[in-house]
Amino acid sequence: MDNVMRAALQRLGRSRSATRLARRYGLRLGASRFVAGVRLEEALDAVGRLNAAGKAATLDYLGEFAGSEPEADRAAAMCVRILEGIAARGADANLSLKLSSLGLDLDRGRCVARLRGILQEAWRLRSFVRLDMEDSPRCEATIGIYRELRRSCDHVGVAVQAYLYRSMADIRTLAAAGSNVRLVKGAYKEPEEVAFPHKADVDAQFAEMIEHHLAYGRYTAIATHDRAIVERAKAWIAAHGTPRTRFEFQMLYGIGEALQDELVREGYKVRVYVPFGEDWYGYFMRRLAERPANVWFVLRNLRR
Ligand code: FDA
Repeated sequence: MDNVMRAALQRLGRSRSATRLARRYGLRLGASRFVAGVRLEEALDAVGRLNAAGKAATLDYLGEFAGSEPEADRAAAMCVRILEGIAARGADANLSLKLSSLGLDLDRGRCVARLRGILQEAWRLRSFVRLDMEDSPRCEATIGIYRELRRSCDHVGVAVQAYLYRSMADIRTLAAAGSNVRLVKGAYKEPEEVAFPHKADVDAQFAEMIEHHLAYGRYTAIATHDRAIVERAKAWIAAHGTPRTRFEFQMLYGIGEALQDELVREGYKVRVYVPFGEDWYGYFMRRLAERPANVWFVLRNLRR
C-alpha cells in the first residue's frame, strides 16, 4: 500500500498543474512543517533559531529545472543574495543548490558560468556551496561539473545518493580526489536499472559509503534521520578516532528534531537543510513520498 501511495505522490510531485494549484494555496496543506517560508528573510529567521539551538544550517532556494536563461539568471542572483544575507546576519550557514535551477538542462556552459559566479561570491564571503544531487539523468553531469570546479576551489561539495548502483564507485573516485561529500540515501523515483529497489540494499551501501569516505579522511556530511545509520556511524568514528572536524551530521528542516538535539548535546556538529521559496511543492511532495504517513498530517491540516 505504501509503495502505491509513494508512486502516486512522486507522480503528483512532478505535475505542472498541481504545482500551479499549490502555489495558489501558499504554504497551507502542512508544507510549512518542511519549508521555512517563501521569503529569504523568513528562512534567515529560521536559521537564527537553529543557530541559537546550537545547529548550523544550509539554505536552499527551492526551484528546479529553470525553463529559460532569464529564470536561471534569477536563481543564480538569489543564490548570491542568500550568501550576502548569511554574511550580513553573521549566521552559521552555507548554501545548497541544484544545477538544474542554474540551467543545466538548457546550456551546460552557461550553467557552469553561473555556478562559478556564485562560488566567487562564496569565496569572498568565506562561505561554502553544496551541489545537491538530483535524479539519475543529471548525476553524471553534476559529478563532472563538481570535479571540474573542485580542481580550483575547496569551498564546494557535492551530494551522492546511496540508492544508485554507481555510487560506491563514485565515492571511491571522489574520496581519492579529496572531495567534500554529503551522503544521502536518495529521494527520487528511479528505475531498477540504475537504483536498488530494496531499502535493505540502499542502507547497506549507505553505511559502506560513509565508512569508506571517512576512512579516506575526507570531510563527510552524513545526511540522514535514520537512527540505526547514525549510531553505526558514531560507533565507527569512535573506533577509528576520527576527529570531529572531519564530519558532520545533517538533517532536513522539520524532521528528526529529537535526534538533532541529542547529537548537539553529545557535542557533534549538526547542520539543518533549510529550504524556502515559492516553488516548495516538488520538495514537499518528495517529503510526503518518503513517508506516506505524513499524508495524514496534511489531511488534518486541510480539515482545519
Ligand atoms: P529513511 O527514509 O530510512 O528514514 C529514517 C527515519 O527518518 C524514518 O523512519 C522517519 O522516522 C524519519 N523520516 C525520514 N523521512 C521523513 C519524512 N519525509 N518525514 C518524516 N520523517 C521522516 N536526496 C537527494 O536525492 N539529493 C540530495 O541532494 C539530498 N539532500 C539531502 C540533504 C539532507 C541534509 C538530508 C537529510 C537529506 C537529503 N536528501 C537528498 C534526502 C535523502 O535522500 C532521503 O530521501 C531522506 O533523508 C530520507 O531518508 P533517511 O536517510 O532519513 O532514511
